[in-house]
Amino acid sequence: MGTEEKTEDSAVGDVTGTASATDSLTVTDNRTGRTYELPIEDDTIKAMDLRQIKVKEDDFGMMAFDPAFTNTAACRSSITYIDGEAGILEHRGIPIEQLCENSTYLEVAYLLVYGELPTRPQLEDWTHDVTHHTYVHEDIKKFLTGFRYDAHPMGMLLASTGALSTFYPDANQINDPVERYLATIRLIAKIPTLAAFAYRHNMGLPYVYPDNDLSYSENFLSMMFKMTEQKYEPDPRLAKALDVLFILHADHEQNCSTSAVRGVGSSDVDPYSAVAAGIAALYGRLHGGANEAVLKMLRHIEKVENIPDFLDKVKNREEKLMGFGHRVYKNYDPRARIIKSHADEVFEATEYNPLVEIATELEKQALDDEFFTSRKLYPNVDFYSGIIYEAMKIPPAMFTTIFAIPRTSGWISQWLEMTDDPDKKISRPRQIYTGAREANYIPIAERTGGDTISGPPATRPGA
Ligand code: CMC
Repeated sequence: MGTEEKTEDSAVGDVTGTASATDSLTVTDNRTGRTYELPIEDDTIKAMDLRQIKVKEDDFGMMAFDPAFTNTAACRSSITYIDGEAGILEHRGIPIEQLCENSTYLEVAYLLVYGELPTRPQLEDWTHDVTHHTYVHEDIKKFLTGFRYDAHPMGMLLASTGALSTFYPDANQINDPVERYLATIRLIAKIPTLAAFAYRHNMGLPYVYPDNDLSYSENFLSMMFKMTEQKYEPDPRLAKALDVLFILHADHEQNCSTSAVRGVGSSDVDPYSAVAAGIAALYGRLHGGANEAVLKMLRHIEKVENIPDFLDKVKNREEKLMGFGHRVYKNYDPRARIIKSHADEVFEATEYNPLVEIATELEKQALDDEFFTSRKLYPNVDFYSGIIYEAMKIPPAMFTTIFAIPRTSGWISQWLEMTDDPDKKISRPRQIYTGAREANYIPIAERTGGDTISGPPATRPGA
């Protein structure tokens, strides 16, 4: 639907007060006095409707400036609903609390992908298909052994997930229903195997093949921790807590990594490559790397007595309180509330860990402090997930890698939705150009300037 220019030269005052009561936004450009009426749908205006706002006919037209897309809806989605102010998270309309209470991760993955809960036979087929695609090609194993012994497992997961696209080249037929189903199943099935292999590689231990008798989370624990025993028998409390963590991390609408999957996938690349882009985004310490950073922070604090000093440094902006704050939740992260209730069970099933004590006290003191409460900084899911993984003796470098396992179902659901979306176009943001124009090439002999390259590369001339 196009926009309508209301009056050619009306003054600002003419328009305010006469704005129509219909679903539209009346905008007056004070540079020209022209007034435009932009349709409103779902509380949004179309950014392209701004383009008609020009001073001169040959101007490019107005754009919206929104670094980090903090107020730009880039798609319509029916997968995940978040109300950050109220602390609500729902998948396909079902509250996360109900899913954690009653469901399993694989059932939630089905819900995300298909939009509704499976019937019993559907769930059986889905579970069977995921379970029977957990093996990876032996050459992927060889590929993984090429990494240095201390390679970060997330880097290994990122590379090997991208490499899967070379093993399944037909996945680039992104509109073929059979290929779409296979890629969905394979990604959900193989990412835990790749993650566990990366861990075993770091530990210098032989890779453990998947065990089809175990559930999704039990099998992951087996691939991580099985040693000489004939059959690995996971502690049911740990398997349950891990399954709940998987449910909690399955999807979180248009966050950095999901936007990366959609952005890269918008070029019609195969889903393995698009998901590898999501893994790359998740690797960063402000996203999936946060729980790893929480553990580093707790080790750095060292003992409970040091907490007040550490919090003072946070307030002086010398440190950041990792695992606190969220772009969307300006209230308690509902996922944090759920996982906190499972944390005690995990601590019961595992040995005493002094970091757990530091974390508990740190949370208490921060929540009593006006600096954090006035900024609505509450613990997020990563504050607790890190401590739980630590108690399970999972090394911090694996935390983000484990986050990627359940998030794969969210990424692939979002990718499926995007590829079917009639509004889909290749992602291509605009810029406000701030550099030089029509500069002349200077022959090298005539250039002046320093004799050495000093400091990091400058992103802006003179920076
Ligand atoms: N420690 C100390 N101060 C903080 C923190 C923190 N963790 N988070 C935000 N603030 C301050 C920030 O400095 C600002 O203060 P002021 O207004 O005085 O300048 C105020 O709180 C508002 O913060 P913001 O930077 O506008 O918040 P944001 O929405 O841009 O950032 C965030 C969100 C998650 C990147 C940030 O809170 C953060 O860096 N947290 C630590 C990292 C972390 O735990 N990340 C995991 C997020 S949950 C996992 C996921 O869903 O990916």
